[in-house]
Amino acid sequence: MPPRKTDKAEKADGNVTALRRARAPAPGRFITFEGGEGAGKSTQVRRLREKLAELGIEAVATREPGGSTGAEIMRHLILSGAAKPLGPLAEAALFAAARADHLDATIRPALARGAWVVCDRFADSTRAYQGVLGNIDPRLIAALEEVTVGDTRPDLTLILDIPAEEGLSRASARSGVAADRFESEGVGFHRRLREAFRALAENEPQRCVLIDARPDADTVAEAIWTAVQERLRPAQPRRRARR
Ligand SMILES: Nc1ncnc2c1ncn2[C@@H]1O[C@H](COP(=O)(O)OP(=O)(O)OP(=O)(O)O)[C@@H](O)[C@H]1O
Ligand SMILES: [Mg+2]
Repeated sequence: MPPRKTDKAEKADGNVTALRRARAPAPGRFITFEGGEGAGKSTQVRRLREKLAELGIEAVATREPGGSTGAEIMRHLILSGAAKPLGPLAEAALFAAARADHLDATIRPALARGAWVVCDRFADSTRAYQGVLGNIDPRLIAALEEVTVGDTRPDLTLILDIPAEEGLSRASARSGVAADRFESEGVGFHRRLREAFRALAENEPQRCVLIDARPDADTVAEAIWTAVQERLRPAQPRRRARR
């Protein structure tokens, strides 16, 4: 056991922490969108970024897999289906490599300068697709997440919930986009995926909010904005650190 710190030493530590906080730029916030195919994630990422920009908040919209030069190369490898024959473990490793680059090149620098990051899919997708659906040991998924994500956990995760059939029909109605590696899976896969995301939301209620994604895009955007306001209070001025 480490030696017990004296009251004086504890107070000095506290002073240093308070000083660092007072000097550091306001930390950005990290919001992720999750959910099945065609749930409306990309639509709502765009809308939330615009809403934050209207409030004068710099918001960076980004996506996974991808979001940085290196990760976009890996996106092609993953979503083209080229890595599918290698199995879910190889796919999980590819996602982890792409995520590490995305965090280093895009997410952490944005958060460090005080911007908000709004990300279309993140680590929960790996938990659901490769973990639950791919049957990869959850301890391995957690270990990959620990080394890539580390402390850069989302402040808020919005899980867009829609029946698999409705999401798939929205995705297939999207003009000019061919079905990708995961969209081409059968409807049973997508039903299980929805359940995996719902379980994630239930297991981490402090971080996750389940959003009913069935209504029209304006109604969904309103529900999202309510959740963002309740959880992150973007319009409120930050309290100044006491000197
Ligand atoms: N609330 C909504 N009601 C009806 N259609 C919607 C709604 N939200 C989005 N759409 C439309 O459904 C399609 C899928 O939406 P979007 O691309 O945003 O979903 P996504 O979750 O990002 O899909 P993917 O998982 O395939 O990336 C698009 O054509 C979009 O315009
Ligand atoms: Mg999308």
